[in-house]
Amino acid sequence: MNYNIGLLKGDGIGPEIVSSAVKVLEKVGAKYGHTFSFTDYLIGGIAIDTVGEGLPKETVEGCLGSDSVLLGAVGGPKWDTLPGNQRPEKALLGIRSAMGLYTNLRPAKLYPALKDASPLRADIVEKGFDIMMVRELTGGIYFGERGRREGKYGPEAYDTEAYSVMEIERIARVAFETAMKRNKKVISVDKANVLESSRLWRETVHRIAADYPEVECTDMLVDNTAMQIVRNPAQFDVVVTSNMFGDILSDEASQITGSIGMLASASLGDTSRGLYEPIHGSAPDIAGQNKANPIATILSAAMMLRYSFSLMEEADCIENAVNKVLDKGYRTADLAMGRDIPTLSCSEMTDKILEEI
Ligand code: IPM
Ligand code: MG
Repeated sequence: MNYNIGLLKGDGIGPEIVSSAVKVLEKVGAKYGHTFSFTDYLIGGIAIDTVGEGLPKETVEGCLGSDSVLLGAVGGPKWDTLPGNQRPEKALLGIRSAMGLYTNLRPAKLYPALKDASPLRADIVEKGFDIMMVRELTGGIYFGERGRREGKYGPEAYDTEAYSVMEIERIARVAFETAMKRNKKVISVDKANVLESSRLWRETVHRIAADYPEVECTDMLVDNTAMQIVRNPAQFDVVVTSNMFGDILSDEASQITGSIGMLASASLGDTSRGLYEPIHGSAPDIAGQNKANPIATILSAAMMLRYSFSLMEEADCIENAVNKVLDKGYRTADLAMGRDIPTLSCSEMTDKILEEI
């Protein structure tokens, strides 16, 4: 088969990590007889600098015309002082929304070889964990009405969290369907003791839960969840939550795996076309230095094969290669955690993974 993949390399370490993932896809394609054709589109700071806007029309059209899309990262200090609606991050939210990608799957699992890199106590990591975070991606406060105004104490700024029943229902269904293929446990995270939008969230999730009697569904308040993730991560299977809570909790969950440099994500909608990206950012401090960990992007490419193209064996092949390389003790700098061990560059780590494919 031939697949057309749109590449959004973006800013900072984006180009390095995306080119690592492209090499991996090419190797897997050659092994299993698929052709992957790649087309670059501009997004983020580089797009602002080149064509004057973070999300050019050509990019949106190109992504909608691709079979799937792989993204590096956007943003950097150079664009931090731009007005909010012109920032590179706005382009990322824009492309997710333009592609109708309301589901963000963020798996956080412990690789046994990385137990030492986790900041958690040995007796906690010993039990292992495998969390599938299902984050709502095109609603809530990141997309709500915002602005500046004159308030009670003078000038103020506001952002609004709003969720429709429809948006909650469809993300809840994704969570339950996902749980059916895993350990049949959903923890729905909200702040229903304070927020009205969370009360609607909870009500709606309960209604959908009734369609999945085999799945155990529990509510958890977001502050408690933040604590439980570091106290007992083994209790989680599928976590479903709003855009902002999912953004925050997925960074926390990534850290207990050893490094945010390990976490892949898939953004999905109602078609097979998805957007795949590492959950980490553009890491401007190490950009262009060949130091980045390419694994999150390589694992994102594996998720693309699995979720967009149903190439399960090929996806397994990439994930197994990553496992083997970690088992052999190879580490990028982020996985050394301050220990004095030899580390590989981005391209060296990529080569090790290629060797295992
Ligand atoms: C992420 C990032 C983005 C988000 C930012 C860069 C807009 O933090 O993918 O988690 O909040 O979704
Ligand atoms: Mg984030």
